[in-house]
Amino acid sequence: MKNKIIIDTDPGIDDAMAIHMAFADQRLDVIGLTSIFGNVTTNRATRNALRLAEMAHYRTIVAPGELVPMIRAPEPPADFVHGAEGFGTIPAATPAGGADSRSAAKFLCESCAAAPGEITICAVGPLTNLAAALSLDSSIVRDVKSVVIMGGSYAYHGNVTGCAEANIWNDPDAADRVFAADWDVTMVGLDVTERTQCTPDDFAFLASRSPHIGGFLNEAAIFYFDFHQSKTGIRSCFMHDPSAILAITDTHLFGFEVVPIAVVCKGKEIGRTRLYEGQGRRPVKVATSVDNVAAREKFLGLVANADSISRMRKAG
Ligand code: BDR
Ligand code: CA
Repeated sequence: MKNKIIIDTDPGIDDAMAIHMAFADQRLDVIGLTSIFGNVTTNRATRNALRLAEMAHYRTIVAPGELVPMIRAPEPPADFVHGAEGFGTIPAATPAGGADSRSAAKFLCESCAAAPGEITICAVGPLTNLAAALSLDSSIVRDVKSVVIMGGSYAYHGNVTGCAEANIWNDPDAADRVFAADWDVTMVGLDVTERTQCTPDDFAFLASRSPHIGGFLNEAAIFYFDFHQSKTGIRSCFMHDPSAILAITDTHLFGFEVVPIAVVCKGKEIGRTRLYEGQGRRPVKVATSVDNVAAREKFLGLVANADSISRMRKAG
């Protein structure tokens, strides 16, 4: 039986990499994409999610998410990382289909209630939709199979500030709510996502094997490489969001520590994930190591076949 997942996402270049990898993975059934602000606005994230699904002939629901963080004022989208429309310099395109009439939170709650214990939510953007789902119907903690998050870091390290990772920093209150809830959470943070990297040659390979989907990622990635090179001096990119999907499909590639997590919601360390020192918080599986060679190969192997799998899907 396929693993059912809903990807909560702010597409976003590495979101697109993760989503196309998931679409190409026959072990997964992506029953929905829920959109959230972060790399782009929520409206652009919804549009981009629809575009990714249509590009791969993947029939899935796209449900629009929250427009602003729970409490803190919204930050501007990360256009300097992902481009104004989300996919580098690739122009916006209007999808043929439309989004679901339900909100992301409602879709998450209803989907999990309809298939108790079967659905993993993989959140690769700020956690506002997950916090909204908890408020809407707290029985989601019982109905969901597990929650896997790209966000945070276990060691003291950040990518927006010295100690805060972008997805947590964009809505720390929502993230703390998610870590406080009584559900099965895995945190895939910068400790592992920065260890798995791909190069322009890797994306040229994907474009040669899958000209449509790999070619799209190869073109979008140019902007992403520019950003990484400006930060690290090296023309390679971190595989943040694909790592969270791989933690579901290929869990054996990761090592974990199991500890309760809290988020700093105020002050100069806002957005930092840290050990929770109180009582009664359910421990989180925190990814602390990764077989980065195997993770990169898995990503490349799956996306290399993206076009042929999407053609088979289209043919029915
Ligand atoms: C995370 O922030 C976003 O820019 C990426 O898509 C990823 O989800 C990395 O910190
Ligand atoms: Ca993302």
